[in-house]
Amino acid sequence: MQATEIELIEFQDGHLDAAVDLSRAEGWPHRREDWALVLSLSRGTVALEGGRVVGTALATPFGEAGATVNMVIVDKSMRGRGLGRRLMAFAIEAAGGRSCRLVATEDGRPLYEKLGFAATGEIRQHQGPVSAPARPALSADIDFADETVAAELAALDAQATGLDRSALFARLAREGRFAVLREAGRIEGFAVLRPFGRGEVAGPVVARTADEAKALLGFLFADRAGAFLRVDVAVGRGLGPFLVEHGLLPVGGGIAMQRGGVAVEPSRPVQTFALASQALG
Ligand SMILES: CC(C)(COP(=O)(O)OP(=O)(O)OC[C@H]1O[C@@H](n2cnc3c(N)ncnc32)[C@H](O)[C@@H]1OP(=O)(O)O)[C@@H](O)C(=O)NCCC(=O)NCCS
Repeated sequence: MQATEIELIEFQDGHLDAAVDLSRAEGWPHRREDWALVLSLSRGTVALEGGRVVGTALATPFGEAGATVNMVIVDKSMRGRGLGRRLMAFAIEAAGGRSCRLVATEDGRPLYEKLGFAATGEIRQHQGPVSAPARPALSADIDFADETVAAELAALDAQATGLDRSALFARLAREGRFAVLREAGRIEGFAVLRPFGRGEVAGPVVARTADEAKALLGFLFADRAGAFLRVDVAVGRGLGPFLVEHGLLPVGGGIAMQRGGVAVEPSRPVQTFALASQALG
């Protein structure tokens, strides 16, 4: 069977169950709801062989400047025949001239390099049953906030990422919980918690310093002690030992890559310490 006999069509809700099967075969934990969240923000392509879904790729635009490319999977039996490249061409096209970011697996990296993506950093996945901090890491004003802060969080997130992710924050307001750090009444950092995969994910976490990021996460950990939590952190921002101390062990990760556009300046007032997910950044 040649790759040319495979049809590429728009990814629709009816393809979600097959997509879940593909990601499960890779050992990825995504539930149908996790795929649906990404799809709701994205333009996607599926590859069909005789009506069977054998590949997927999504592009998620965030404002006019950037997009993430994600959920790139080719069925094991179909690899090495150019299908990954064809799906990526669709995803890049769907990104409509925006600079593209992604988190690459070992499998994906050679393909992405060939398509002009360059490494910008490293992401490490930590997870496990979380233990509560013995004491607050910081005497900061941290509390849960309701969905009315979503736009404010998106604005702070934009300072860290350079992306307008308002649509994502509107979704997170429905599906997750916001912990915010306030100083003089102003939100200076936040962490989002939502159901994902085997349990819950904490992210994005955006803060001015690693200590404030730890304080935000510690606040969530105290609320969720014993629960299965996942945190995908940017390596080099100082959160690894803190996560391990609280039961979240490193289990893998990926290489952050970008194609086009300017890489995020390290001197921004706030930084992203943990991702919403590897798919969404
Ligand atoms: C990554 C993946 C989508 C690639 O799909 P694929 O259909 O095998 O890719 P292609 O056949 O189109 O290969 C594309 C190019 O990358 C190269 N390539 C692919 N995998 C490679 C590998 N492991 N090592 C070196 N080169 C590789 C191919 O040689 C090819 O180069 P060419 O077009 O210049 O000939 C597939 O391996 C996969 O689904 N992996 C599991 C899920 C995953 O990790 N996805 C990436 C998420 S970030």
